[in-house]
This record gives sequence, structure tokens and C-alpha cells, in this order.
Amino acid sequence: MIKQKRILALDDEPNMRRLLEISLKQANYQPVIAQHGQEALEILRQGGIDLVVSDMHMPVMDGLKLLTAMRNEHLEIPVIIVTAQGEIHTAVEAMKLGAADYILRPFDLSTLEIAIDRALSLSRLKLENRFLRDEVSRATASLVGQSTAMQLVHKAISQVAPEKATTLIAGETGTGKELVAHAIHQLSPRKDALFVAVNCAAIPGDMLESELFGHERGAFTGAIKERIGKFELADGGTLFLDEITEMPIGLQAKLLRALQQGVIERLGSNRSITVDIRVVAATNRDPQQAIADGKLREDLYYRLNVFRIDLPPLRARISDIPQLSHHFLQSRNLSISPAALLALQAYAWPGNVRELENILERAAIMSSGAEISIQHLPADIAGRQPAIDTVDTTPPAAIEAPLTTLPLATEALEKKMITAALLQSSGNKSKAARLLDISERSLWYKLSRYTLEEVSSAQTESP
Ligand SMILES: Nc1ncnc2c1ncn2[C@@H]1O[C@H](COP(=O)(O)OP(=O)(O)OP(=O)(O)O)[C@@H](O)[C@H]1O
Ligand SMILES: [Mg+2]
Repeated sequence: MIKQKRILALDDEPNMRRLLEISLKQANYQPVIAQHGQEALEILRQGGIDLVVSDMHMPVMDGLKLLTAMRNEHLEIPVIIVTAQGEIHTAVEAMKLGAADYILRPFDLSTLEIAIDRALSLSRLKLENRFLRDEVSRATASLVGQSTAMQLVHKAISQVAPEKATTLIAGETGTGKELVAHAIHQLSPRKDALFVAVNCAAIPGDMLESELFGHERGAFTGAIKERIGKFELADGGTLFLDEITEMPIGLQAKLLRALQQGVIERLGSNRSITVDIRVVAATNRDPQQAIADGKLREDLYYRLNVFRIDLPPLRARISDIPQLSHHFLQSRNLSISPAALLALQAYAWPGNVRELENILERAAIMSSGAEISIQHLPADIAGRQPAIDTVDTTPPAAIEAPLTTLPLATEALEKKMITAALLQSSGNKSKAARLLDISERSLWYKLSRYTLEEVSSAQTESP
């Protein structure tokens, strides 16, 4: 049986407490009831609470003070704030203090249930993310990779982060665009305000406008209550517009106006609201092509493209694959064999880093706790090995066998990769160096060091 979630509900009104208790029981939660923030805080300190539903105004300790106290004591439990129709601004304050969501009074049971469900699943995600964050303290450090290409990305992030400049991140799917957007926020002076992400592809076009700008009560059929949009929510922080080319073209015009003027209007209202936000947008399409295809307004593109970060596909930075692999396997305490790494580096990775992460996750399961080797990789990846092995006369066992030292293992791997790259480039050294993502000079150096010269000159006459 699934454990019932314990929800702490607090309100200074006895009737409201009673209603919350009954509603929560009906929704199959285990309610714990408190009268004000101070009492709630004492219960929270004892542990065992999964979520808090809190009234905003209470005499002893109100919702905002409770949130502040929880934050100070690192009680990271999701809080849903209940507030009145006309007081939405205090709900925004609450969100900035870390509330997971807010609901407006009067609400029905299903509204409460949806909010609870959403907050609980979000907090699970947050916990997972925190686990990643704890391992590396600085945001960009979580962006693994020291290839020349990634060094440029790191540099671009640290250059743009302190500025308010709108930033466009372009790159194939799974290259780490969202991670870069997070890093920019984390390294910016806005890091203590919210990072609000909107995936333009995931929200139906007709709902996106109200999602971004909010709406007044009665603005359209179904707008029973006022709702603040992501722009208002991100005030002071960063708004991440993911998959920007999937936004309806008409809405793009409206977005452009909002960006240019720094003001928005909720749907159904003509009151201007000033917002101070930093926009980071991302796309996995080629922006120029998207403009040509009519998916992206050219004027919006220029507004977004003030600063541009291009994330290279993984196949253009294969030298990052070992480090990325270790990064993904580290939490499982697993290692990977040099031959398996080699096979990973010979694959084209259409799904980029995300695909690598998934493949390694699968391999980790298949290896059931042992070192990951070539047989734990999917056939189409493992199958790349023989092509490389044809030039290498040493039996695969020589490289799979336990190597005594890291330098020896590294050397074996380097030799194999260099040979493979030279083969692939028909002996063209500058091409091989590019494939390996190292300078031509360092390729020359390694060739002489490993006396691989014969291999390369045997392949071709060209330089
Ligand atoms: N350099 C990196 N270091 C560590 N993990 C990375 C790196 N790049 C990507 N990842 C991981 O790969 C996965 C995909 O990254 P992310 O979601 O940022 O990609 P994306 O470019 O936004 O993809 P999509 O276009 O499909 O939305 C995530 O789990 C992310 O943590
Ligand atoms: Mg993404």
C-alpha cells in the first residue's frame, strides 16, 4: 500500500481548519492541523510532513513569516499558500520566498488536489536536482566538459551571467541548453530570485498567452479566477523561454513588445505592469532556418540574440565523453572500461548528452554492479568497436584486462583513438586532430611519443 502523504494545514479560522481537514481526508491524505505559523513550525521541526497548505493571514505567525522561518531552518517542504482573490500580490511575494504554489479562496477540492499533486511531484524533482547540486557547488561546475568547445561555453556563460542581456541558446536536442540557462541564472545577481521556465512546445498555443502574461477574472471562458503569469512571477529573476520557435507567431509579436517595453498587461486588463526580468531563450532549431520557415519572427530573433551561446553537438566534442561518462556513473559508484569508452566515442549521438546519460543508465542496470564494458552497450554502439580494432593488432583482451596504472590506461586509449581518427580521416592529420578535438600540435606530439608515425604515414601520402 502506498504511504499516505501527511499534509499540514493551517488556518486561524476554526471553520476553515475543519473544512481543510475534511477535504484532505476525502482526497486520501493524512491531515495534520495547526492554528498559526508558530504551531506549524514546531510540528515541522519534528519531521514527517510532506507538504504544507497555509493560510496567508494569521495573527501569531503569518504565511510569509512561516516561509521565511522555514527557509532559515532549511525545512525544505513544499508550501501551498491560500489567499484571497484581491491579494494576489502577496501570493507573488510568497512564491518569491519559495512557496510551491498558491490557490485562491474559495477553492474546491479538485483545485486543492491538483495543487498538492503538482507541488509534491515538483518537490521530488527538486530533491533529485539538489542531489546533483550538492556534488558540485558552483552551477557551471555541473556543466561537465573541458573540450575546447565547452571551454568556450563556460566562458560565454561567465561573461553574460552578470549582465541583463537577453540570451539565446541554440543547440541540438539534449546538448544541455536548459543546464546552461540554469547556470546563467545561478551565476547572475538574480540568483536569489526565481528561475521560471516555460516550455513553449509543451503548452497549447492558445493557453500560452495567459501562461506568460496572466489573466483577469472573466478574461475568457474558463478564466474563473485571476491568474498571474510567468512574467510577473519571474520579476527580479530569470524567465527561461524554452523552444521559442514553437510559440505562435502572433504571440511572438506580443512577447517582443513586452521585452522592448519591460511592461506587460494581463489578459482582460489594460493596466500595465512593470516587470524586471532577464530573458533566456532556447531553441533546438537553427534560428536562421526557423526564420526562413516562418517559425521565428526576425525582429524577435534580433531582440533575443543580443548574446548567443551555441551548444555544440556531442559528436563535435567527443573528448568530453570520458568525463561525462564518469560524471553520470559516479553516483552509482561504477567505472567503465576503456574499450567501452572508445565505442562511446565512435558513436554519432543524435540525442547528444541526454542519450549518453540514458545509455549509461541502461548499461549500469545491465552490468548489475560490475564495471561497464562493451557488452553492456547497445549493439549499434558496441558494434563500432570492430572498425577501430581492424587497425589494432593487439587483442581486445589487452585493453579490457586490468591496467595497473592510469597513465598506462590513458596511453592505451589515446593510441586506439588516434589510430581510429587517422583511419577515419584517411591520414589527414588536421582532420584527425579536429575529430579528436585536440590541436594539431598535440596530435603531432602524441604521434611521436607513441611512435604511431608509421601508422599514419602508411595510410596516406597526403600531409
Ligand atoms: N555538459 C553537461 N554536463 C552534465 N550533464 C549534462 C551536460 N549537458 C547535458 N547534460 C544532461 O543531459 C540532459 C539533457 O540536458 P538539457 O535538458 O539541458 O538539454 P536540452 O538542450 O535542453 O535538450 P532539449 O532540446 O531536448 O530540451 C540533462 O539530464 C542534463 O543534466
Ligand atoms: Mg531543454
